[in-house]
Amino acid sequence: MTLTDRLNRPLHDLRISVTDRCNFRCVYCMPKEIFGADYPYLRRDQILAFEEIARLARIFTAHGVRKVRLTGGEPLVRKDLHRLVKMLAEIPGLELTLTTNGALLAKQAQALKDAGLNRVTVSLDSLDDEIFKAMNDVDFPVAKVLEGMDTAAQVGLEPIKVNMVVKRGMNESSVLPMARYFRKKGYILRFIEYMDVGHTNGWRMDDVVSSAEIVKMISAEMPLEPIDPNYRGEVAERWRYQDGGGEIGVISSVTQAFCRACTRARISAEGKLYTCLFAVQGHDLKSLIRSGASDDELSQLIARVWGKRTDRYSELRSENTIDLPKVEMSHIGG
Ligand code: GTP
Ligand code: 5AD
Ligand code: SF4
Ligand code: SF4
Repeated sequence: MTLTDRLNRPLHDLRISVTDRCNFRCVYCMPKEIFGADYPYLRRDQILAFEEIARLARIFTAHGVRKVRLTGGEPLVRKDLHRLVKMLAEIPGLELTLTTNGALLAKQAQALKDAGLNRVTVSLDSLDDEIFKAMNDVDFPVAKVLEGMDTAAQVGLEPIKVNMVVKRGMNESSVLPMARYFRKKGYILRFIEYMDVGHTNGWRMDDVVSSAEIVKMISAEMPLEPIDPNYRGEVAERWRYQDGGGEIGVISSVTQAFCRACTRARISAEGKLYTCLFAVQGHDLKSLIRSGASDDELSQLIARVWGKRTDRYSELRSENTIDLPKVEMSHIGG
């Protein structure tokens, strides 16, 4: 029997954060003032081991999960990540993907592909070094990220998707150059509305550039038309260039919430199960595992948690929800 939540949504995707650490300090995610040298990152023994993650993934698959996405922090800073990919690739019927900032991708792409990863999504907020460096806040150059994407494409981790978070006053001017560049490359560029995740990024509605605005801006130069989603509940809304030159996506979690079709569960690096990106509390799977729970016990807990799920934060977002104590993006992986 298919497992569904209180709003009749099945469990289809599992996003697994493999570390809360990152080699970038994006201003909208891990602002330097908070994520400094003395930030209490999780210790090795506090994060799930690869064996624990693979075990959970197997149990989730029995509940209907068909897609696993590895996230972070930055997943590629977790040592030997390809070993985890190999373990997950042994689970039949799973699509296996990864969202990365691309910094370490050129080095690891081949090993990830060989281990069984299907494709990657790479975040990049601008093609202009000055703007990109102001956003990643660690002086990281654009060229290295592009090199990571190209290596991933060469080894067959395709289709390559590119995520650009648009923040007003920071990188709107990069929207058109990014669209032009990735259209030529044949990578799928997705524009993401800046979200009020966590409670450290100082989010304000005024900083959000809406998807409607982006589509209008691009269409004025390169006319776009909407196309059908690849699957029910796809996060990005798809648009294609009318002249046949590829497609883009827009992710409108702020102006057009998509909770109604949200089939995503998340496991934090610490091993907590979250039923929403904006959840206040998670369910501690790690303690259960480490106290000797059987597969059946874990499976029943997951079913109970999903069965009770009523989350629809983005649909309810208001002035009152912005200051709620939410889990940090770097712990839950977006
Ligand atoms: P594919 O469709 O497989 O390419 O994956 P995706 O777009 O779901 O994954 P990705 O990690 O690239 O996420 C893109 C953006 O959408 C990120 O900013 C995520 O934080 C955001 N996002 C993903 N899932 C959700 C969700 O359930 N709710 C909200 N509000 N945002 C989400
Ligand atoms: N709003 C929207 N997207 C965000 N991401 C990180 N922080 C935010 C935010 N505040 C994006 C990253 C990455 C994806 C997993 O989430 O850029 O592409
Ligand atoms: Fe790191 Fe990604 Fe957060 Fe940037 S958005 S700080 S790359 S986890
Ligand atoms: Fe799903 Fe929560 Fe995002 Fe809505 S806000 S789409 S319920 S994760």
